[in-house]
Amino acid sequence: MEDDGLPEDNEWKLDPEDLEKLEQIGGGNFGAVYKGDYVGTSVAIKEVVISEDDEEFARKYIEREVAVLRSARHPNILNFIGICTPEKTKDSKSRSGFKESVLIVTEWLPNGNLHKYIRKNKDELTWTKRVLMAIDIASAMAFLNKKNLIHRDLKPENLLITENGRIKICDFGFARRKPKKDVGLMTLAGTEDYMAPEVTLGEDYDEKCDVYSFGVVLYELIGLREPPRRSPATAFDFRADDIKAFVPADCPEELAQLAAHCTRYRSSERPSFAESLKRLKELLKTLPPDAGVGGSLASSASATPTTAAAATTVAPAGDAVSGAATPPPVAVVVQPSSSPASIQPSGGSRSGSSSPAKWTAGGQGSDHVNLPAGGEGDVLAKEKARLEKTMAKLQLN
Ligand SMILES: Nc1ncnc2c1ncn2[C@@H]1O[C@H](COP(=O)(O)OP(=O)(O)O)[C@@H](O)[C@H]1O
Ligand SMILES: [Mg+2]
Repeated sequence: MEDDGLPEDNEWKLDPEDLEKLEQIGGGNFGAVYKGDYVGTSVAIKEVVISEDDEEFARKYIEREVAVLRSARHPNILNFIGICTPEKTKDSKSRSGFKESVLIVTEWLPNGNLHKYIRKNKDELTWTKRVLMAIDIASAMAFLNKKNLIHRDLKPENLLITENGRIKICDFGFARRKPKKDVGLMTLAGTEDYMAPEVTLGEDYDEKCDVYSFGVVLYELIGLREPPRRSPATAFDFRADDIKAFVPADCPEELAQLAAHCTRYRSSERPSFAESLKRLKELLKTLPPDAGVGGSLASSASATPTTAAAATTVAPAGDAVSGAATPPPVAVVVQPSSSPASIQPSGGSRSGSSSPAKWTAGGQGSDHVNLPAGGEGDVLAKEKARLEKTMAKLQLN
């Protein structure tokens, strides 16, 4: 082929000789994440170990992550540097005697993930900073949605903090194209605390499941702690009383309203990311600019604080924050037919108190926030029956 002087497709492939693994910074779904060095540049190296037991799933995870990272170039999406497939190495534990690992290399972000960042920097997180973070997430998600991509695991651990306190989305191992209406196979993927009810209940879902997760992240930004738990008693809707007690008095009203709209029970009633972004940008104009906040939006924001709600002090966060990270995502294939659901390895079990099998009834059925009005009892009963069916399939109850 004639040399046109342009980069070739395989230029994403990195030479393992050029990569140096430094300290481990996180446990990956299939391996670990390291800080590293690539020809003098700080990078993050996600090592995905492919074992015989979960080979197919691990390869799919890598394919998804790399496909999205390669195609989604956006200021609020982690920058892809390349991929490295080292030779198979000897492993006495593996049946074949070998193990294989794939290294996914991305830019290095120095401030870790939003889950830890919130807990470490509570006192500095003004409303302006938090709204800017929400804008970053909504911008990236609006962009992904335009490409018909659903993230499916939007949560604070998958939101990384840049040097100047802004956000980039990472971890696309569960991302997929928006399903066509007639798809028969649904995958239950995500992390329970951030999962839309329709996903938890094993129903059809679309990109609005990400909007729901975004709403839960907004609540976390609002309260600077984990949002209230949802339970089967309210068909995984938030309880109104819980939300009332959770939102601090000085929270800008529009922010609390947006979180409530994003977590509406009916997915069709949730705003799109584009609309959420518009509302957040309007809200930003009413907040005082923060000194030292990076990004053009911050500096271009109007300097006219309007309401008392725009106060920049952070309300006491209430309950003690558990330092524990949220559980790893689940990935369960739910067959709509009568065949039993098969549980795919996800690097972690549905363990601990967040397992739906262990969720307990959390109050009366009528006090949840967003479940559609009218025939509420019916809807609730239906949702509960569906949940029980799903749980039975998953053999978790
Ligand atoms: N590029 C990066 N820069 C800094 N930290 C990162 C980077 N990528 C991942 N991490 C850290 O590693 C954790 C796990 O990474 P992630 O991509 O979510 O993998 P997984 O969820 O599969 O373990 C993140 O929550 C974050 O703390
Ligand atoms: Mg992750």
